[in-house]
Amino acid sequence: MNERETLKINGLGHLEIGGADAVDLAKKFGTPLYVFDEAHIRNMMRVYKKTIDEEYDGNGLVLYASKAFSCKAIYAIANEESVGVDVVSGGEFYTALSAGFPADKIYMHGNNKLLRELEFAVDNGIGNIVVDSYSEADVLDELAGKRGIKQNVLIRTNPGVEAHTHAFVQTARTDSKFGFSINDGAAEEMTKHILSKKNLVLKGYHCHIGSQIFEKQSFVLAAEKVMDFIAKMKKSSGFEATELNIGGGFGVWYTDEDPKLKLSDYADYLKALIGAVKSKAKEHKLNNPYLLIEPGRSIVGEAGITLYTVGAIKDIPGIKKYVAIDGGMFDNPRYALYQSKYTVLLADRANEKNTERVTIAGKCCESGDVIAVDVPLPEAKTGNILAVLTTGAYNYSMASNYNRNFIPAAVLVKDGKAEYIVKPQTYEDIVRNDVLPERFKK
Ligand code: LLP
Repeated sequence: MNERETLKINGLGHLEIGGADAVDLAKKFGTPLYVFDEAHIRNMMRVYKKTIDEEYDGNGLVLYASKAFSCKAIYAIANEESVGVDVVSGGEFYTALSAGFPADKIYMHGNNKLLRELEFAVDNGIGNIVVDSYSEADVLDELAGKRGIKQNVLIRTNPGVEAHTHAFVQTARTDSKFGFSINDGAAEEMTKHILSKKNLVLKGYHCHIGSQIFEKQSFVLAAEKVMDFIAKMKKSSGFEATELNIGGGFGVWYTDEDPKLKLSDYADYLKALIGAVKSKAKEHKLNNPYLLIEPGRSIVGEAGITLYTVGAIKDIPGIKKYVAIDGGMFDNPRYALYQSKYTVLLADRANEKNTERVTIAGKCCESGDVIAVDVPLPEAKTGNILAVLTTGAYNYSMASNYNRNFIPAAVLVKDGKAEYIVKPQTYEDIVRNDVLPERFKK
């Protein structure tokens, strides 16, 4: 048990999250239900901010990557924690603004930002746009010019460092739809292009090397490569970047195949990264750039669980036992998409020993709709409450109304008390945007 531990088993043998009994939550709010522990989210934001404050004289900003989980409340928490945010669509930007989040602390990403998204961002005073194409740079320059403003931008680079969960590789040229390669001169060309734009202010560079990374060295290597590039650009064009955004990607625990990191481990990742930036700045006689990081998964991932009610149970002797839940790929598509592994348990029988291996099946009309395959569990009965752990990141944000199922509600737990941050959907919501043309009406 470490200080980030949000879960425990209480005297009733029930799973508890942030001091709230999961079985009570299921009863009160219904299932499926996303549950988030506020303290965990805040602790994660704080450790990153504190490390930048202490190790880098506060010369930087943590940007919460809101694609991991976006709703009004999370932006409000980020704002209270003096954290900025990164958004990747007009929708995320709008949600942040609706929560009163200051636009100047928002960075916008995207490999194909739409004209209407750029207009909306510029018109609402977005702090910084991370440019990822020539056409975007041209459009943005024009938009800013028409409005008589100067728009701050970063260039998304591709440092040729690719990180996988437990390893990193350096590739000469990464095949990616994102960024301009540092290795083949594309990032240099783009720098010149932006510097030629009257209405864009180039602040510096961004890179993001991947997600669910535990390898410290991959962050260090990426930071070094971009710092070398900053030095190169200073020499060749006289432009010295004042901002360096190193992206997100810090890993979280899903199953015991992953390490369970302490707050101090996350601080160590950042310290290593800061050390690399500082020593490269010294080596190249550069000023320390304003440092940005964009953690998403590590802030909300382990803060969240999903609660389901067990429904149909189908035992196919000698082959498989399916335990079906009232959710599925529409609230968590990550097994279907990536074969991601999860830890599951019975929230109302959390003390009991696992006695069998089962497949957790969703209720969607397709065989690929499973949440976890071959996972250990006590013998589940219809009506039990099943908890899937570490679902705070990329679950609600990737949910859909597939099969016209409801996207589950989300509650936020603080000091043992839960309240809605996303309301339950209704059948009315399901048909809200449907139009039945007159000619079909009798
Ligand atoms: N910054 C940029 C530019 C990114 O593309 C991402 C994630 C992040 C920050 C945040 O990375 P994190 O700290 O969360 O690893 N849907 C996938 C994850 C996609 C991540 C995309 N980019 C999943 O469910 O695993």
